[in-house]
Amino acid sequence: MGTGFTDRLLHGADYNPEQWLHDPEVLEQDIQLMLQAGCNVMSVGIFSWAALEPEEGKYQWGWMDHVIHRLHTNGISIFLATPSGARPVWLAQKYPEVLRTGPNRQRNLYGARHNHCYTSPVYREKIKNLNGQLAARYGNHPAVKLWHISNEYGGECHCEYCQDAFRVWLQQKYGTIEHLNEQWWTTFWSHKYTDWSQIESPAPHGENATHGMNLDWKRFVTDQTLNFMQHEISAVKVNNPEIPVTTNFMYYFNGLNYFKFKDFIDIVSWDNYPTWHKKDDIDIAIDTAMWHDMMRSIKRQPFLLMESSPSSTNWQSVSKLKKPGMHILSSMQAVAHGSNSVQYFQWRKSRGSSEKFHGAVVSHDGSPNTRVFREVSQLGSLLAEMSGVAGTEMNAEAAVVYDWENKWAIEDSQGPRNIGMEYKEEVQAHYRSLIEQGITVDFVDMECEISSYKLVIAPMLYMQRAGFEQKMRHFVEQGGTLVMTYWSGIVNENDLVHLGDMPHQLTDVAGVISEEIDGLYDHEHNRGRVVGQLEGQALTGEYSCSKLCDQIHLQGAEALIIYTDDFYAGNPVVTRNAYGLGQAYYIGSHFEQKFYDDLYHDLIQQLSLKRALDVNMPKGVYVTSRANAQEQYLFVQNFTPDSKVIPALGAGWSPLTRDVNLKGEWTATAYEILVAKRSLV
Ligand code: GLA
Ligand code: ZN
Repeated sequence: MGTGFTDRLLHGADYNPEQWLHDPEVLEQDIQLMLQAGCNVMSVGIFSWAALEPEEGKYQWGWMDHVIHRLHTNGISIFLATPSGARPVWLAQKYPEVLRTGPNRQRNLYGARHNHCYTSPVYREKIKNLNGQLAARYGNHPAVKLWHISNEYGGECHCEYCQDAFRVWLQQKYGTIEHLNEQWWTTFWSHKYTDWSQIESPAPHGENATHGMNLDWKRFVTDQTLNFMQHEISAVKVNNPEIPVTTNFMYYFNGLNYFKFKDFIDIVSWDNYPTWHKKDDIDIAIDTAMWHDMMRSIKRQPFLLMESSPSSTNWQSVSKLKKPGMHILSSMQAVAHGSNSVQYFQWRKSRGSSEKFHGAVVSHDGSPNTRVFREVSQLGSLLAEMSGVAGTEMNAEAAVVYDWENKWAIEDSQGPRNIGMEYKEEVQAHYRSLIEQGITVDFVDMECEISSYKLVIAPMLYMQRAGFEQKMRHFVEQGGTLVMTYWSGIVNENDLVHLGDMPHQLTDVAGVISEEIDGLYDHEHNRGRVVGQLEGQALTGEYSCSKLCDQIHLQGAEALIIYTDDFYAGNPVVTRNAYGLGQAYYIGSHFEQKFYDDLYHDLIQQLSLKRALDVNMPKGVYVTSRANAQEQYLFVQNFTPDSKVIPALGAGWSPLTRDVNLKGEWTATAYEILVAKRSLV
């Protein structure tokens, strides 16, 4: 992975000074507080459309000139946003077409945000004008380091413009209406189209059961959003193409295929709001870690943590405060997975409207004498001290396949388990075992290359697209280790079932044929008994399994685990097959976590995968590492409310976060992160 666009760790927030223009003192106080908290970057302009263009074509730059000037004078860099995430009332009033139309075909009233059509020519023209003006005015300002394009793109519009665009998109994809009919299997229920104009986007009161159409609509929404984003980017790049662009992504957002953005943005950023302290924090930490790694993987580069809350949010079911230590731990967790920044939403709490109780660095008291401000400042000092981390990388030998289009298709497949196919959970079970054992994991989708990895895990690869089955075959032939699971190799990219043996085109690689699959209710379980052994010898005894039980026949593979219960007791459920220079494992059911832990323990040993540290951590603690040719940073993270005894890290490590002797055993306090460094030269 490359090292991203910054050579130091950044610390900052969304800054919305237009809310405080009536009191000019606020800006000056804010700047003093920013310096006190060790902040070096602010994202401005995200929701400033009405303040910048209060009337159509009439711009007010004075306040923004002043904000940028004052921040710059004080050494604070700027991420300048394009304000397309929310629009002024005048725009919607004069041009109702800019408002979004729902799947029920009703146009929204003005209100909220993200309530706009990405296709509307007027919306495109108006935002292009404003972006162009912003770029002309500030695009060469030395403080402006990054374009923050819009805010959390998401949502879809079903207006007539969007319907037309969808039809054009389909014509480009299929060429002829016959081809579309064939791939959508429209003979079923007599749904054959005879003309493109008959096609309408999916609707709750219309077509919603043609799975190929549902998938294409989701793909179209991603493409149309990308097209809108490119439209925005081209407007800001006119003046100074050197300034990189990002757009902020969301937590496990299902609506857009984020991998498709990788060639259009210069750096990935995302907004992270975990529900800390809702349940076991290590579970939340693993879930968060996975998304950090996803964000790092999209461009295989460091990313930015564009937003997070320094205390609570106000939109989760309960607004819990972060317990002492959690702010630094959770912020540094992002860095530990490849972020080169820690940024917040927002700098100063709003006084009114819907986010007035959302956590912010500066609360309504305007004072630095708060617990939150102290922790933020402490983190600011730490980030400054370990700025060298920004020049490091994370190189993975293992990759897990997570493919948005596959996820969409699985969720819409209708059977074999309509109470939840749980793709994410299956992916996370594999990921978790690797991360907890100190293995760096990349995520890939089916369009990515996989040949550089030693281990590729492809859970529930229901859909095959982009020739991925050939990539997997080649990978194993060349010596790679592939882990596949149940519900794989079943449909093509349009959700048409492959005819013939499953997993399609991989039965020889896997050495098994999957004949049928049993769905289990939530209260049901089966068990697997180990009958074969792996080198590491952790995989042993019995493991419970649930959700789906694949019925497989051996076709060259050896059985490692067999079912113990039901009419398929004694049949294989986990197998291994040698193929070419490599090997493929097939896992026929969803197992308890211990199974994945033991399997990967053995595979880590067998494949000599590099761990961040060759030391086992107590439960609730995990370690990641970032390095370059000169130095390595280690992040030991205790996500439990308890003290944990940590084994010696070994010679050469110097602690950066507090003074402790790492040559011997030591104790991590509740929610502590210890960062240590060693020289590699
Ligand atoms: C999102 C938005 C912000 C703010 C936060 C609140 O990430 O981008 O504008 O609403 O959520 O958590
Ligand atoms: Zn529209």
